[in-house]
Amino acid sequence: MVKVALKGIRLSREGFTLSIPELEVGDGELLTLLGPSGCGKTTTLRIIAGLEKAKGRVFFGDEDVTEKEPYERNIGIVFQDYALFPHMTVFDNVAFGLKLRKLPRAEIERRVREVLELVGLEGMEKRYPEQLSGGQQQRVALARALVIEPSVLLLDEPLSNLDAKIRERLRGEVKRIQRETGTTTIYVTHDQEEAMAISDRIAVMKDGRILQVGKPLELYYNPGNEFVARFLGTANIFELNAKDGRACLGSLCFEVPQGGRVKVFFRPESVVVENGDDAEVLGWELLPGRMRLFLGIEGIKITAERPLPELPFDPGSVPKKVGVRVVKYSTISL
Ligand SMILES: Nc1ncnc2c1ncn2[C@@H]1O[C@H](COP(=O)(O)OP(=O)(O)O)[C@@H](O)[C@H]1O
Ligand SMILES: [Mg+2]
Repeated sequence: MVKVALKGIRLSREGFTLSIPELEVGDGELLTLLGPSGCGKTTTLRIIAGLEKAKGRVFFGDEDVTEKEPYERNIGIVFQDYALFPHMTVFDNVAFGLKLRKLPRAEIERRVREVLELVGLEGMEKRYPEQLSGGQQQRVALARALVIEPSVLLLDEPLSNLDAKIRERLRGEVKRIQRETGTTTIYVTHDQEEAMAISDRIAVMKDGRILQVGKPLELYYNPGNEFVARFLGTANIFELNAKDGRACLGSLCFEVPQGGRVKVFFRPESVVVENGDDAEVLGWELLPGRMRLFLGIEGIKITAERPLPELPFDPGSVPKKVGVRVVKYSTISL
């Protein structure tokens, strides 16, 4: 296992520039590159794998691997499309990399059996890819990447082609397997929920740049800018005038670090709804186990979300006005 470091990475294509001055992924860490389509996630992964040439250096541990070929880097890769060999059994698909390395037959059999157990596919050795579901095929792809005991595991939207239910189950499995093996992993996705669920840290990307790196909840509750705030979930963001360390919207006041114009930010679940008349109820949605309320205060719209047992009224008779308190908020740069 190794840590991975990128230094001064720069790559230009027509209409697109990737620029990553510095990024470190800790030994045994799972770091996710999260961002919209076209922001440069796959390109970054390909640079780490050695499949794409760029300016700058790539380090695995203390070793500079920039000039090394992909096959010399000891990486495991899983792509969105399973890319299994269709004419080979599960066993042969997984054993492929070990045969290339000319390991003894008994050793290959032992390692393939172990890794198939790890990904929950014991007993499936003799099947062909077409005899497996999408989720099972992706487990084979994961097994094939892990069986070589890679220094670094690279996963590029590995769950994107699967149904929602299977995607949720498999992301938990990916996390478990990553923890069990302790493999340094770089995971790519455009799905913020998936990123939150599995990552030790997330790097949010936009237009070829990393905007912010942090633990999931750090990014979620203390985003550095509006893009990160909105990409990670529903965000209440509005500007206020601050005086003496306070900025108020009607009866709702926030303590802020500076005077003048400030941008206040909070999540829907940070809004506590009470009996009262701070806000007008503009609309609401009933969701499984919770209610989303669209509130208005002095022309500003706020989204609140409460678990049903925490509402001060019956979900069947929503009042015209409610009291509100915001229990967790931060300011973001203008
Ligand atoms: N082989 C390629 N040739 C030219 N442009 C490419 C190639 N692959 C990707 N791009 C472009 O580079 C940018 C980044 O792409 P990519 O890294 O695939 O983004 P992501 O994985 O975040 O969706 C996009 O503008 C994309 O259109
Ligand atoms: Mg991509």
